[in-house]
Amino acid sequence: MADEHSRIAEIMQALPENERQMVNVINQIQEQKGFISRDDLRDLAAQTGQPESSLEGLVSFFSSFRTRPVGRNRVSVCYGTACYTRGADRLHDRLTGELELDADGTSADGFITIDKVQCVGACSLAPVLVCNGTLEGKVKSHQMPAKLRELREDDAKRG
Ligand code: FES
Repeated sequence: MADEHSRIAEIMQALPENERQMVNVINQIQEQKGFISRDDLRDLAAQTGQPESSLEGLVSFFSSFRTRPVGRNRVSVCYGTACYTRGADRLHDRLTGELELDADGTSADGFITIDKVQCVGACSLAPVLVCNGTLEGKVKSHQMPAKLRELREDDAKRG
């Protein structure tokens, strides 16, 4: 969503230079290992001289930062404008309605993480989700229970 991108850009511009750099570093850590641990923040604080509390504040401020590993399966529901207007909310509600997820969208057993993402560039296929890296378009909310069953079965086979 363009509005979301410009909002984040405004927030980033308003941050002091050192905090902007910290956001970029934290982002790189997350890209490498999938989440930011307390130890990561402690290390970063020690190496940069930034107070650990201000790093924690940055992590909690940006909802895209995760503080726990993602689940063994990941389903990202596109919330870009085209997908939103074609039922992204219904997909997300149907997926999450049958699961107990934490604030990061991850189930306690680590089976799955369900999150919301910005436009993934396949608007003509809206609504779209990305299931374990594979883009699926024109999905319907009534298909979601079967999708979860399929993921559970595959997960059980992998042990
Ligand atoms: S808005 Fe979902 S793919 Fe573009």
